[in-house]
Formats: sequence, structure tokens, C-alpha cells
Amino acid sequence: MLEVKDVVKSFKTDDHTIKPVNGVSFSLEQGTFAAILGKSGSGKSTLLSLLGALDKATSGDVLVDGVNISALPDSKLTAYRRDDIGFVFQQYNLIPNLSAKENVMLPMEFAGLPRAKRSVRAAQLLNQVELTEDMHNRKANKLSGGQQQRVSIARALANNPKLILADEPTGNLDDETGELIIELLRSLCHEKNTTILVVTHDQALARKTDRRFRLARGKISEITHH
Ligand SMILES: Nc1ncnc2c1ncn2[C@@H]1O[C@H](COP(=O)(O)OP(=O)(O)O)[C@@H](O)[C@H]1O
Ligand SMILES: [Mg+2]
Repeated sequence: MLEVKDVVKSFKTDDHTIKPVNGVSFSLEQGTFAAILGKSGSGKSTLLSLLGALDKATSGDVLVDGVNISALPDSKLTAYRRDDIGFVFQQYNLIPNLSAKENVMLPMEFAGLPRAKRSVRAAQLLNQVELTEDMHNRKANKLSGGQQQRVSIARALANNPKLILADEPTGNLDDETGELIIELLRSLCHEKNTTILVVTHDQALARKTDRRFRLARGKISEITHH
């Protein structure tokens, strides 16, 4: 379970302070597929980076299965990011000159899994995201956008995280490919009981999720109508 309690993030610029996240509270049961909608600049990426412990909140608490990650020392945060969180980005963020499979093996190497096991698991994950065998050894920069995003989802799943955070994962894809990626995330979420939180400004994609929230003026509210 993910619990976000009165989280604030402020940035100081030369002459003023902005608070893109200004008292955000919500919680998600394990295995929920949720979306956060909001305009560009509304603080969506800022909020995700707080949930993924890439940045520290100014105040407030983020609890993952009851553990307050806002209070963890840096050493524990590294392990949290590696073991409990999978990130999926709009720009995929793959290593371009590594193969699809090598990209997926990388987080398992950081986690200390032996090479043979990494290789077998990476192939399984790539099959799961429906990338055919002949794609596994292709360099990431030789794959289409949709294929690269599949690799990045497989990479996010590598260490079996509790929570996947996806920042505009369909932002660089055409509508049809974007829909396939969202379907893929939805099925992974429900099959593996992973909590998936997607940030998007695409209403059509957000409609496929179990719960939807809107972030505006630093506050979050749940969208209850359909
Ligand atoms: N590190 C930072 N320093 C100062 N301002 C920032 C920083 N990161 C984000 N911001 C500002 O916070 C606001 C929200 O940004 P962001 O979270 O990227 O929005 P979104 O992802 O919804 O487009 C923007 O006004 C942005 O310029
Ligand atoms: Mg953003």
C-alpha cells in the first residue's frame, strides 16, 4: 500500500518560492492502476520523483507498506529505489548501445543476481512485454519508440518492484501504440499485483485506469465521474 500524507515540495527561485506540490494526500491499495492528470507544469513529475525517492519532500510523509521513506537514510533509499520501485519515462531512458536484453539485465546486476539468472529473467520479461526473440539482442537505438517503451517496462519489472511510477509513458508514442502500452501496464498491474501510478495528460488513456486523480495548483483531487 502506498500512502501519501500532506506532502509539500517547494522550490526557491531568485525572488520567490513555488510550491508545485502543496499538501497532497492520497493512498493506493496494492495492485491498483492509477493515473494522475494535470497540465504541463502542474507538478506531476515533481510528485513522482518524491514517491520514487529521487528527491526529498519539503514536508509530509510517503509510506510504502507502512515504511516511511521520507525518514530513511540515504543508504536505505538506494535500496528502496533499486528493489521496490520501477521507473518508466517518456524518453525511455535506455542505454542506446546496449541490447534490449542487456538493458533489462542491468537493474538485476545492481541487485547482485548472477549473470545466468539475469539472462533467463530478462528474456522472460521481454517475452512478457511481447518483444519477439529477434528483438532481444537488438541495440536499443535500433528499436522503434513503442518497442523501446516495452523494453523500459521490462526493465522496470526486473527486480519485481511493488510500485511502478510512469511519467508520461505514452507521450512520445502514436495513439495506437500508446493504447497498447497502457493495456500492457494494466495487465501487468493486475497479474502481478503491482501498484502502477501513471502520470499523463491524455484523458483517453487515463480512462483505462482503476482510479484517476487531478493535480492542479499543488492539490490533488480524485476524479469520480466517468
Ligand atoms: N528543480 C527545480 N527547481 C525549480 N523549479 C522546479 C524544479 N523542478 C520543477 N520545477 C518547477 O515546478 C513546477 C512543476 O514542474 P513539473 O513537476 O516538472 O511539472 P509537470 O511534470 O506537471 O509538467 C514547474 O513550474 C517547474 O518549473
Ligand atoms: Mg513532467
